[in-house]
Amino acid sequence: MVTSSPWWGQSVIYQVYLRSFADGDGDGVGDLAGLRRRLHHLVDLGVDGLWLNPCYPSPQADHGYDIADYRDIDPAYGTLAEFDELLAEVHRHGLKLLLDIVPNHCSVEHAWFRAALRAGPGSRERGRFVFRPGRGPDASLPPNNWQSVFGGPAWTQVADGEWYLHLFSPEQPDFNWDDPEVLAEFDDVLRFWLNRGVDGFRVDVAHGLIKATGLPDWTGSHSYNPHMWNQAGVNAIHQRWRRVLAEYDRDLALVGEVWPPSSSELTRYAGPDRLGQVFYFDLLAQPWSAAAFRAAIERGLRAGGVAHRIAWTLGNHDVHRQVTRLGQPRSPEPVPTPDITLARLGLTPDVGLGQLRARAALLLLLSLPGAVYLYQGEELGLPEVLDLPDEHRQDPIWFRTGGAEKGRDGCRVPLPWTGDGPGLGFTDGGRPWLPQPAWFARYAVSRQREDPASTLSLYRTALPLRAKLFANTALRWGRADRGDVLAVVRDNGVTCMVNFGDDPYPIPAELGEIVLASHSDGPTERDRRLPGNAAAWLRTDSLQSVDMPSTLS
Ligand code: GLC
Repeated sequence: MVTSSPWWGQSVIYQVYLRSFADGDGDGVGDLAGLRRRLHHLVDLGVDGLWLNPCYPSPQADHGYDIADYRDIDPAYGTLAEFDELLAEVHRHGLKLLLDIVPNHCSVEHAWFRAALRAGPGSRERGRFVFRPGRGPDASLPPNNWQSVFGGPAWTQVADGEWYLHLFSPEQPDFNWDDPEVLAEFDDVLRFWLNRGVDGFRVDVAHGLIKATGLPDWTGSHSYNPHMWNQAGVNAIHQRWRRVLAEYDRDLALVGEVWPPSSSELTRYAGPDRLGQVFYFDLLAQPWSAAAFRAAIERGLRAGGVAHRIAWTLGNHDVHRQVTRLGQPRSPEPVPTPDITLARLGLTPDVGLGQLRARAALLLLLSLPGAVYLYQGEELGLPEVLDLPDEHRQDPIWFRTGGAEKGRDGCRVPLPWTGDGPGLGFTDGGRPWLPQPAWFARYAVSRQREDPASTLSLYRTALPLRAKLFANTALRWGRADRGDVLAVVRDNGVTCMVNFGDDPYPIPAELGEIVLASHSDGPTERDRRLPGNAAAWLRTDSLQSVDMPSTLS
């Protein structure tokens, strides 16, 4: 049953990129046993739940986003029985678990795709995918000019001459969502996992399932091909899933990965009868500027309508880590399109500065109404690994672009748990599937745990406080007399003040006591100056005295 304030509306969810979280069997690849052993890390952090990246059987062409069987666990990660045990333990800790569902495409190893290859043109089996004859006199040209997200044409030809569509890599054939069998199959997949007790799903490329009728060529000049995404028909599919979820007498989450051309279009994805909640990615693309962050937050709040429809985030497994992004020299412009290409930027970051800003941005994010998604390793302040040796790279983006784009491996390097030992505590002896640079040791969990000034300590203090301080109250912007300072004021007298500039800013006495600061240098009650690139939470009982000109719902 869905209540008016669902558990997922204000939750902090920790994204577990399983391959890189913790290795339980010593083969250098993270797995369910490793996650179970390290689950206390999430409990200690104070998150409300976790989102598990795909861990179904997969040839791993796109690290699990190419699924061969939607109803099992990849042997490299464990077994269904281990999954059930993990889920029970997650629930014993009072946490929720979201699975990642990938409905746009499967793997070439999926039984349906193999059958489609065998069955030949015009068959019912091919009808579950998007097969078309080629163009040109001998059909040797792709059916249209679409380019795949990972580079190269979005079509691959099979032995009998037909072509199949793949918005991503050739190993990820797109389903045909006009086919009733596809619709029925996914209803059943959702039920399979809901019956095991999961608390919901993160929906991969939820805006991609339906393509423009007739699959026309894209003749526009920009790289966002509107024929591939954001078609009106996708919402009906989400509504159908919502009805499947409604068969269960518990509050279930569907959070969509949706990249519309403009964030205002998120509204039609996030309604209560459909996904219910969508990621808001605009903050990933903002330069470090008070005006840019404020405008992006306002857009997000407007798109969500109701606060709990938006899931705020500063990072995930597809983009450069925020420490590295925010450590760029100050730029007045937003970085290019907020899509997966963020992983393709060449950056020369100031890591120390990026760390300060990322800490400040965390306090800002946590002060907003709505859900917050954290990506594993951000609680350690990990920078992007920009100098991963090329011979270790595994991302299909790297291969599909012939090395022109580095891809996303740099944010997927296995976590450092200890300052020494094999794989820095990630593995019991195996070689981590991506090598950890020597400097990773500095960021180890074991080292940060003991240090009250560490990023990990900030996260561990901030998360439980957020639950207490930022309950579901309205948000306003407080007035600061400097354009590079932002103040989010909540109706219960709590303020988050962020100094995007470099010069200290004196915190007005009316804002009350300092509850938490992102910067270990202060402010303190004795010296109430908020340092540059820092944020603080403040609390007062007499909010009336604070000047708050604008109000947002
Ligand atoms: C999403 C995932 C990304 C994956 C792609 C294709 O964008 O987050 O990791 O490569 O979908 O499934």
